[in-house]
Amino acid sequence: MNDVSLTYAHAMIDALERDATLVEPMQLAERIRALEWLEEWLDESRDDEPLGIRARSLHARLADVQARLCEALRIEIRAGKGAAALRRWRPALVDGAEGYDHLDGLLSDVFAFDEPTDPIAPLEPDMVFYQPTPVRHIFDLVERSCITNNDVFIDLGSGLGHVPILVAILTGARCVGIEQEHIYAGLAQRCAESLKLDTVSFEARDVRDADFSDGTVFHLYTPFTGAILRGVLDTLRIKAERRAMRITSFGPCTSIVAAEPWLTPVGPHQPNRIAVFRSCR
Ligand SMILES: C[S@@+](CC[C@H](N)C(=O)[O-])C[C@H]1O[C@@H](n2cnc3c(N)ncnc32)[C@H](O)[C@@H]1O
Repeated sequence: MNDVSLTYAHAMIDALERDATLVEPMQLAERIRALEWLEEWLDESRDDEPLGIRARSLHARLADVQARLCEALRIEIRAGKGAAALRRWRPALVDGAEGYDHLDGLLSDVFAFDEPTDPIAPLEPDMVFYQPTPVRHIFDLVERSCITNNDVFIDLGSGLGHVPILVAILTGARCVGIEQEHIYAGLAQRCAESLKLDTVSFEARDVRDADFSDGTVFHLYTPFTGAILRGVLDTLRIKAERRAMRITSFGPCTSIVAAEPWLTPVGPHQPNRIAVFRSCR
């Protein structure tokens, strides 16, 4: 490490050690940024040197605050008080910025999914690989599609299940994730059970074999394209002739969903935000 980067590391670690606010639970973004910086720096340095020892001890202290915060949130969720506990973190504004942030870090620690032990199967044509909807957009989805505990929310291509799990916690709605990769569906189900969320379930199946009869709100984070998307939209259109539904969509599939004549947008569409549609009969 050269002199300039060592001087910078000294200044950073001095500043982080002095910043007493980093251990306050609500200083989440700042604490996660500090933890990430320390991890990156410790990866590149010798941690038996005095500065490395200070950095490791600071990292352990902040990681402990974070672990206790996540355990407290898990306890609230298991006690059925997760909505109030998690709404404290609701972003004031969802402005269409791209990428993931500290809320994704928090929720992945709270949900604590097990790592897949077997390889994930290759995807068939028109299937899109797993990528989670960023957490701030899930808060936005819940608010703008007005989900209540009378709804049945279905995530089409649910991956590890962040969306149905968070929607169930925030709204009390029955939530279902349909996922073709049985490893993801199994890990998601285990997470829901460990949080004692009995209104969430996951089905390891292709959406083309699924029954959408109960659904009132369907989420599509561009899970598939081409003929699979066309077939699913046609099935939903037929269901919507009998029963009103909302569709939330995110990513490139939104332009295809928006072109469906049987759907009306709810509010103006903003790029990089969840789009909400209602069926019209
Ligand atoms: C972009 S990810 C979306 C994950 C999740 N819905 C979210 O918003 O966080 C797409 C997911 O859809 C799944 N998928 C793709 N084609 C599918 C199909 N035909 N049936 C069920 N799941 C499918 C993929 O395995 C992947 O996990």
